Amino acid sequence: MAEYDLLVLNGLVVTADETGQFDIAVKDGKIAKLVPRGSLDGITANKTIDAEGGMVMPGGVDAHVHLAEPALFGKGKSADDYETGSRSAIAGGTTTLITFAPQRKTEPSLLAALAATHELAKDKCYSDYSFHLICSNAGPQAISEFAALREAGISSLKIYMTYEALQLKDSEILDVLFEARKQKIVTMIHAENGAIIDWTIKKLEEKKLFDPKYHVTSHPPVAEIEATYRAISLSSFIDVPILIVHVSSPSAAKHISDAQKRGLPIYAETCPQYLFLTRKDLDKPGFEGAKCVCSPPPREGEQDHEGIWQGLENGTFTVLSSDHCPFLYEDTTVGKKSVISAEYPNGHFKYIPNGCPGVETRMSLALSANRLKLQKFVEVTSTNAAKLYGLYPRKGGLVPGESDADLTVWYPDGMKEYQLTNSMLHHNVDHTPYEGRTIKQWPRYTILRGEVVWAKDEGGLVGKKGYGQFLQRDMSSLAGSMSKEEWNVENF
Ligand SMILES: *[C@@H]1O[C@H](CO)[C@@H](O)[C@H](O)[C@H]1NC(C)=O
Ligand SMILES: *[C@@H]1O[C@H](CO)[C@@H](O)[C@H](O)[C@H]1NC(C)=O
Repeated sequence: MAEYDLLVLNGLVVTADETGQFDIAVKDGKIAKLVPRGSLDGITANKTIDAEGGMVMPGGVDAHVHLAEPALFGKGKSADDYETGSRSAIAGGTTTLITFAPQRKTEPSLLAALAATHELAKDKCYSDYSFHLICSNAGPQAISEFAALREAGISSLKIYMTYEALQLKDSEILDVLFEARKQKIVTMIHAENGAIIDWTIKKLEEKKLFDPKYHVTSHPPVAEIEATYRAISLSSFIDVPILIVHVSSPSAAKHISDAQKRGLPIYAETCPQYLFLTRKDLDKPGFEGAKCVCSPPPREGEQDHEGIWQGLENGTFTVLSSDHCPFLYEDTTVGKKSVISAEYPNGHFKYIPNGCPGVETRMSLALSANRLKLQKFVEVTSTNAAKLYGLYPRKGGLVPGESDADLTVWYPDGMKEYQLTNSMLHHNVDHTPYEGRTIKQWPRYTILRGEVVWAKDEGGLVGKKGYGQFLQRDMSSLAGSMSKEEWNVENF
């Protein structure tokens, strides 16, 4: 019998804490040893991977992914289900997904939404997975279920400050944050001011401006900036951690950075679309620009991208997630083209299903940009998400005896260059917003709990549907309230 199940040798191992020439031994799905190169010579294993000087990192953790969601508003319906979305994830080096379990406004219970989403994911996943509950009906029943969610392994919720079908009033947001504080739940907030957006849409409609590019105009930075500041204010009143999702505007990031300097437990996320896309990507002939319609929208250009990169480098952003939100482009019933009609031959920007695919391209795009220090890259694409959402050190690290053997093995630098095309990808979407871009890296192997699930040159997708497990999550190891005292209204 062999001593180990798997050895990964000769790689440059990069974790959030260190970089070095280490060899890795895996047993029973866990990292058993992380030792200087050469220390495992002569040791027997069932399988050995020669990483040949390529980087070896903890598998990616993508904590913002929409799969198999019904049409919550408008006509758009997720193009990816748990099978196609999670297979796309592992092909792109991501071994853990946290997706959403959406509660509808007409549904009083969060636990019902959780049960329904478990059904959609069960036996379907190539990657490991968990869910954030989307709370769009913050009535007494939903609030009373937070404790039960924690027992079910769910330690995060998402709420919206915009979209009629999902939006909570400020008083409802306070109800959510108040109970989240008691139950040690991290609340993710989509921070855009819905009233500013609706008002701007009306102004554009009065001028008969309907092309996809007006989606950007209709979501002005001020809508994001105001809502971000309000979210920070509400959370600091309750003294509870929040994460502002998909921040696109450097001015919104400035509010976040200022709050962090005051010691507030405010966390933030950004996404590749705010590093690589601009308003110009929505300003294409005909309806083409609809492919890049997402909210908040890509901003003006270089300067915005620069501000967002800076926020990643200096820690304002805790995580770089994909916000994979897949819609077919050509589909005229539930895809982007569902909004084309005789009245609106180029569609109407207001009704275009909002979202872009990106779960598979997130890590390669960000690594190819060669902008972040390697340890920072690991931190924002894997480790921090695991810490923030209660999965560390099982996920997001390479801690012997504790971490699952989830690894992304890259090619040696300079060995590969690709022109990204949609046909390379494993999602169920008919386009990628990054078509034609040059990328310098792609995962050579993805390993999940010791099993090779992606081997680019040796069969590609070799994982099994259903191998992915649901992950029970604990409270955040990153975020807590500032005060240990109970919240008391008399303090104000
Ligand atoms: C190696 O493979 C054999 C046969 O499949 C299996 O029984 C064993 O548990 C594996 N692992 C080790 C460490 O031997
Ligand atoms: C960090 O980045 C944010 C977001 O771009 C910016 O507002 C802030 O000023 C930066 N902080 C430092 C210390 O550079």
